[in-house]
Amino acid sequence: MNLQRILWIAVFAIIMMESSGQKTHKSVLLQHDKKIDAIIQQMTLEEKVEMLHGKTMFASAGVERLGIADVKYADGPFGIREELQPHSWAPLGLTTDKATFFPTGSALAATWSPELAYEYGTGMAREARMRGKDMILGPAINIQRIPTGGRTYEYLSEDPFLSSRLSVGYTKGVQENEAAVCLKHYALNNQENNRGTVNVIIGERAMREIYLPPFRAAVEEADAFGVMAAYNKVNDRWCSENDILQNKILRDEWGFAGMIISDWGGTHSTVDAVTYGLNVEMPDKKYLGQALLDSVKAGKVSEEIINLRVREILRVRMEIKPVPEEKANKEITSQPAQQKIAYNVASKSIVLLKNNGILPIDISKKPVIAVIGANATQIMATGGLGAGVKTLYEVTPLEGLKNKIGDKAEIVFAQGYVPVVFTWGRKSPEQLEKEAREKEIKTKELTKEAMDVASKADLVLFIGGNNRSVETEGSDRKDIKLPSGQDELIQKIAEVNKNIVTVLTSGAPNDLNVVNSISKALLISWFNGTEGGNALADVLLGNISPSGRLPFTLPVKLEDSPAYALGNYPQGNKNADVFANLVSETDSIGVTAEKKSEALNRDPNTANYSEESLVGYRWFDTKKLPVMYPFGYGLTYTDFNYSALKTDSEKYGKNDIIRVSFELKNTGKMAADEVVQVYIHRINPSVEWPEKELKAFSRETLNPGESKTLTLEIPVKNLQYWNETKHAWDDDLCNIELQVGASAGDIKFKKEVALK
Ligand code: GLC
Repeated sequence: MNLQRILWIAVFAIIMMESSGQKTHKSVLLQHDKKIDAIIQQMTLEEKVEMLHGKTMFASAGVERLGIADVKYADGPFGIREELQPHSWAPLGLTTDKATFFPTGSALAATWSPELAYEYGTGMAREARMRGKDMILGPAINIQRIPTGGRTYEYLSEDPFLSSRLSVGYTKGVQENEAAVCLKHYALNNQENNRGTVNVIIGERAMREIYLPPFRAAVEEADAFGVMAAYNKVNDRWCSENDILQNKILRDEWGFAGMIISDWGGTHSTVDAVTYGLNVEMPDKKYLGQALLDSVKAGKVSEEIINLRVREILRVRMEIKPVPEEKANKEITSQPAQQKIAYNVASKSIVLLKNNGILPIDISKKPVIAVIGANATQIMATGGLGAGVKTLYEVTPLEGLKNKIGDKAEIVFAQGYVPVVFTWGRKSPEQLEKEAREKEIKTKELTKEAMDVASKADLVLFIGGNNRSVETEGSDRKDIKLPSGQDELIQKIAEVNKNIVTVLTSGAPNDLNVVNSISKALLISWFNGTEGGNALADVLLGNISPSGRLPFTLPVKLEDSPAYALGNYPQGNKNADVFANLVSETDSIGVTAEKKSEALNRDPNTANYSEESLVGYRWFDTKKLPVMYPFGYGLTYTDFNYSALKTDSEKYGKNDIIRVSFELKNTGKMAADEVVQVYIHRINPSVEWPEKELKAFSRETLNPGESKTLTLEIPVKNLQYWNETKHAWDDDLCNIELQVGASAGDIKFKKEVALK
């Protein structure tokens, strides 16, 4: 670690100590401290240390002698994971643990609805409690920095404000229904490649303004009780022993009073981990078991630190009542109330990107509909490595269409392509060769069948996209191309039938160049949960209008996105092929070949966030780069008119609230939701800013002809920047432009006001 960085970290730590004590939030957990004093008095050192590591795969110990129950965890964040064997990943084989599969993170984010996030959290809590759980390992709220991120589907958005609003909603929903959240993965776990070893190098300002806000909001506004330390390092320190992240910022500054657990296998020391804030090593006891006991006895760790870590756990334990053994796992986890929530979220998440009028589908003349694509029958609840959901049921797109269409049209299904299937372990070259040959033969057959079915249909519904083996925890995608030769297949289909509606059930961005030009309508329907197929069918048939909005930018090509364009990702030589053809030329955005060649030599375990705050649309808008579809974009089956913009003042002080009002009218023939968005552009700032930033939004339902006067509020405090010299939030009181629109790429009107 070079001297400069050591100095920076030391200075930052000192400043943080000075600025600490400015706790912004008082947790309800503090009310238990008096009782906890008495409990700790009675505990032996052994009992205290027993609480600080895994007891089973998904539980940590209480104090049986004192009647304090174990803490029971359940993976989320989009469904309560099946019951596992106590000391392995193998299922217990219950029948009652079939849960509701809620739409995954990016789908929830596509609703742009904190209210639905609250409902979502409520549903998750209800099912967690039926399973006897105390803490849900979710929400997963890392910012989507790279389009290829293996867990982009699980996370929420590329934007910190949207992610924050939804994190607060989810957290309140869970914690107002007798369970605790565990915000993950704290922090800067934005890639899966080398996730267990990568060292994120990031400036304070980008960390504070982009990557930490969702965690901060859930702590300060929703009093989150749990946090999961991420696998990676941040500025040379493992997250699970990162004093700045865990003590200085999370606890001292934000007022977090709960407990921090490691990610599974993400603990790296004994003394540092427990001193710098980690409460529980999960699921093992390599560091915080006997080694910790020995360290205390050897005087390397004070019992005062142990008492503090125990106190933080007991606060959560006292707040979250344990579920009596006899009540847990007694009936099927998934209940109609939660299935309804899953439908509500799914039906508001579907994003209509393009429609030449072919939608809603007209079934008045009993058309023949060719449903082509393996994703039409693909189960998305499980797959890949990540925490899947053993779900009671999952309505696939094909089932949803059959449910809603019945005999009013003739549906003919063709698989179309061979889906990607996740398999464990490495395969021999011979095995790979054999499988490739078989896949080629199968693909030819499926293509022929698809063309045949399409040639006889009035309409082709192409259901493609990724699946849970393509997007998975543990690895990032190599590119964003549609898998399994879908581009080639749709081109073949278009030779025999031009009437193509394409639905992509993906969780993360895809390269849409081929499907967008060929399809007369194009939608994203996500990994959309137990009721996803019914919601999709309702949208396609016009029973409801689509109303989802993109939570991330869809780039024209992957190389345009910031971490790729700057050669910051993927790291290291092993990806030389990715940049080999780019290194020799200066890119359209002027990033020289030297920068890229520098990247080639970068240690695969160093993630250089040199794009800083220019993540997602912040990058594309600042660099004036064209995108395929912008952040916040989504069509409906109606039209909305914006008019009469005004603000309640022309200038605002640093403690004021900006109120921007305008008229919104549904000028079409169908009820629908509009998500109005307000971005801020700084006109004459004193520091550098992205071109614009989202600072307010609202989802509004309007009937045909209905109009509403809307007022959105932006506290000037929310426009501060993190001053890296002062190591504190600071005001940039400049002239700003309020930009009101339907997406980052569709600003309806602008208004300049002054911050004084
Ligand atoms: C994993 C994931 C984390 C999950 C935990 C338990 O490695 O990173 O999100 O909650 O292990 O399954």
